[in-house]
Amino acid sequence: MKGELLYEGKAKQVFKVSGNDSQLILSYKNDATAFNGIKKASFTGKGKYNNLISSKVFDFLHARGVKSHFERSLNETEQLVKRTKIVPVEVVVRNIAAGSITRRLGIPEKVEFAPPLVELYFKDDGLGDPIINDEHARLLTDLSEQELADVKTTALVINQHLSEFFSEVNLTLVDFKLEFGRNLNGEIILSDEVSPDTCRLWDKDTGEKMDKDVFREDLGDLLKVYEAILNRLEAVK
Ligand code: TMP
Ligand code: ASP
Repeated sequence: MKGELLYEGKAKQVFKVSGNDSQLILSYKNDATAFNGIKKASFTGKGKYNNLISSKVFDFLHARGVKSHFERSLNETEQLVKRTKIVPVEVVVRNIAAGSITRRLGIPEKVEFAPPLVELYFKDDGLGDPIINDEHARLLTDLSEQELADVKTTALVINQHLSEFFSEVNLTLVDFKLEFGRNLNGEIILSDEVSPDTCRLWDKDTGEKMDKDVFREDLGDLLKVYEAILNRLEAVK
């Protein structure tokens, strides 16, 4: 079933499906990188947690009517997804200040954004994923003006759904990054992953950081934190 390796990124490999041009297999790696690949490590089991957590998130979003590339989890580390061509824009939604916005704009960590902020970054490792505006996004992608507007609206809708999803397991969704892709019918749909690698999640009671910041900022045992998130999600849903 699994065909040739099409692409390898920092956190996942993408495989063809033999005899099937409309689907792909995503294989989650154990590697973690931060600061545009400057900091690197491998954690046995991380791929499994991200696959299983991301699968739960996509199942939940599907139930809420959000279209995505996700079909189903195949095993501990792999997912079957619809084939899309990824739009080279990372869409970040921020509810609370943390990470790069505290450094870029001098906003102290924990400041709340109401309404949430939507930011765009150009997905280009060589350039370090620079922040861009809507006009740059139009220049650098094949998104129409309406499609770009829809992507930003969808990101805010997803923020509402995911804030509820994580709230149920006592986590605050601080911020997160989404990627969108164009499917074979030409529609733009949610793609990539939604996991503690791509979200900031803080425990509602203790404020403990329960996401990749544990690795970025050397705060403790990354695997234990990812396992705890999966356990919370499995206990509820
Ligand atoms: P930032 O504060 O570093 O800009 O990150 C904002 C959110 O986006 C945070 O939840 C982590 C996520 N993110 C990614 O998933 N991939 C990336 O390459 C970066 C820079 C951030
Ligand atoms: N994913 C990015 C990197 O590798 C940045 C990050 O998540 O901090 O390096």
